[in-house]
Amino acid sequence: MSTASPTLNVMIKAVRRAARGLVRDFGEVENLQVSTKSAGDFVSRADTRAEQVLRSELMEARPNYGWLGEEGGGAAGKDPTRRWIVDPLDGTTNFLHGQPQWSISVALEHKGRIEAGVIYDPVKDEMFTAEKGQGAWLNDRRLRVSARRDMLTCVFATGLPFAGKGGLPTALAELARVAPHCAGIRRYGSAALDLAWVAAGRFDGFWERDLHAWDIAAGLLLVQEAGGLSCSLVPGEVMETGSVLAANAEVFDRLKAMLIPEQVATGNRVG
Ligand code: IPD
Ligand code: CA
Ligand code: CA
Repeated sequence: MSTASPTLNVMIKAVRRAARGLVRDFGEVENLQVSTKSAGDFVSRADTRAEQVLRSELMEARPNYGWLGEEGGGAAGKDPTRRWIVDPLDGTTNFLHGQPQWSISVALEHKGRIEAGVIYDPVKDEMFTAEKGQGAWLNDRRLRVSARRDMLTCVFATGLPFAGKGGLPTALAELARVAPHCAGIRRYGSAALDLAWVAAGRFDGFWERDLHAWDIAAGLLLVQEAGGLSCSLVPGEVMETGSVLAANAEVFDRLKAMLIPEQVATGNRVG
C-alpha cells in the first residue's frame, strides 16, 4: 500500500494476528479430513476465536467505535458514526473441507460509508487493502480492475445457494443468461475474496444475492478504489440488500442488463 493511515495499520495488525490462529486451525482441519470426526464444531470454534482476537485488537485501538461482526453481532459505540464491520472467516465451507480459498474481512464504516477495508488471504499471504481516495492495493502493488470489454473473454464469479438457503431458481436462471456470453463462471466460495479478485482484475465481475454487510463491506471499497463499479441487484442500498453486482466499468452495464433486465428496462434505481 502507499502510505497506510494509522487506522489501516491497526486493521492490518489485527487481521494478521487473527490469521495466525486460523492458519494453525486450518492445518488441524486438513488432518481431520482423513478422520471420521466431524470438523464442524472445530471450525465454529475457530471463527469465534478469530472474531474475539479481531474485536479485542480493534476495540482496544479505537474504543469508541461500534461493532458489527458475523459471530458476535452488533454493538453501538460511544461514537455513533463509526463502526467496524467484520467477517472473521469468509469461506467457512472451504476451510472446513481443507480448501485454501478463505479470508478475513474487516471494514471501517463512517456515517454509512466505507472508509477503509482489508481482506486477507492468509494461505497465499495476499493482503488486499483500500482507503477512500487512496486506491486499492495487493501487498505493495496498486490494483486496477481488468480492462476487458469483450464479454466472450470475461471470467465472472458468483455464489450459489446451499442447503437451507432459498433462491436457487433465480441463481440458475442467471447462470443460463450469462454463461453463453462469457469465457467462464466460477464459484469459489468466499464472497469477500471474489470482490477482492474483481479489484485485482482476476475476475471481470461478480454477483451474488442475499449476502451480509460483513461479506461485502471491505470488498466493495476495494472494487471502487480499483476503478470498478457496483450496485444492488434489487432496489435499495447494496450494503443493506446484500445482493451485489460488481464489475469493471467496461462490462458493468451489459452484465447488469443480463442479471436484472426488468429493472434496467424500467429505469428503476438500484444500488
Ligand atoms: C459465505 C461465503 C460464500 C457465500 C455465502 C456466504 P461464510 O460466507 O461468502 O462465498 O456464497 O453466501 O455466507 O459463511 O463462509 O462467512
Ligand atoms: Ca461470510
Ligand atoms: Ca464467516
